[in-house]
Amino acid sequence: VLGYYNLFPQKELVYDDDQEGLSDQIIFKFSHVVAENTPKGRAADKFAELVNEKSNGHIKIVVFPNGSLFSDIDDINALKEGQVHIIATSTSKLGVLSPVWGVLDLPFAFPNHEAIHKGIHGPIGEHLLNSLQKNGIIGLAHWSNGFKQITSNKGPIVTPQDLKGQKIRIMKSDVIQAQYDLLGAKAQQESFNSTYNLIEAGHVDGEENTISNIHSKKFYNVQKHLTISNHGYLGYVVMMDQKVWDQQTKNTQQILLEAMDETTAWNDRHSILMNEEQLELIKRNSSIQIHELSDFEKQEWIKELYPVYDILSTTIGSKLVEDIKELRA
Ligand code: LMR
Repeated sequence: VLGYYNLFPQKELVYDDDQEGLSDQIIFKFSHVVAENTPKGRAADKFAELVNEKSNGHIKIVVFPNGSLFSDIDDINALKEGQVHIIATSTSKLGVLSPVWGVLDLPFAFPNHEAIHKGIHGPIGEHLLNSLQKNGIIGLAHWSNGFKQITSNKGPIVTPQDLKGQKIRIMKSDVIQAQYDLLGAKAQQESFNSTYNLIEAGHVDGEENTISNIHSKKFYNVQKHLTISNHGYLGYVVMMDQKVWDQQTKNTQQILLEAMDETTAWNDRHSILMNEEQLELIKRNSSIQIHELSDFEKQEWIKELYPVYDILSTTIGSKLVEDIKELRA
């Protein structure tokens, strides 16, 4: 069943315990690119579990982690073509749909986790989800993975000048690109699951990511330095194609929405904890050198990167950029 490409989620005859006979089961394929032991991986599994429970097994979510079904280069097209039914793409990569998404990539936009919460679950997040309508996509939720850190083999990275000339793998995002350009680094936009090999082969010196991605993909084994910078946000939007959504019964939609709300609340709590726990594991299990930016050092980074706000304000939308600045106030 899973090998077929079809526009609408499949219905299958399955044995139904409630009705003691065969009945329809509807199957949604959910694709993401990270490992299972991450905030997104666990949330996707949790969502599948809740949907299964709430529908008494009638709705099945089959989760494909690690980019095993689609990579972050082709997942949006696959969603639009009905080859996959649910994806949870990093907001940074949604710039291909609209430049508004760049607002969440602005450097040091969020001073802490509370500000992230306000940003993604408040009017800014809502506005961004609504922007997907014109792409024929329904945005079901924002799932946070917290803050990105920087790893490199040419370090330690303490000041913004330390990145000069370094080759850094980044996600496909104009706003992230602009930050590395400003610092004189050579950013390379590459897929997530090529990152380990790029570092190992020496094609890039470093990358930026959350601790859970650095831990689960073992980047710490091929990187000498890790800077706890908390300089940027990494999070996801869980999306479905509007046509596929509209084709579902009210009952199915209701189950998916309820399960999504519960999963999002779960993700908000656990993503912070998972990143904290996995930092401890990295410290325990590797010899990577860790530097945590002091408040003083951070001020220097904020000052150096601030021009990005002006450079990209018109592209992103000046109202959105003003709104996000208020989260720092
Ligand atoms: C990355 O490409 O570094 C991340 O977006 C991967 C992910 O989905 O967390």
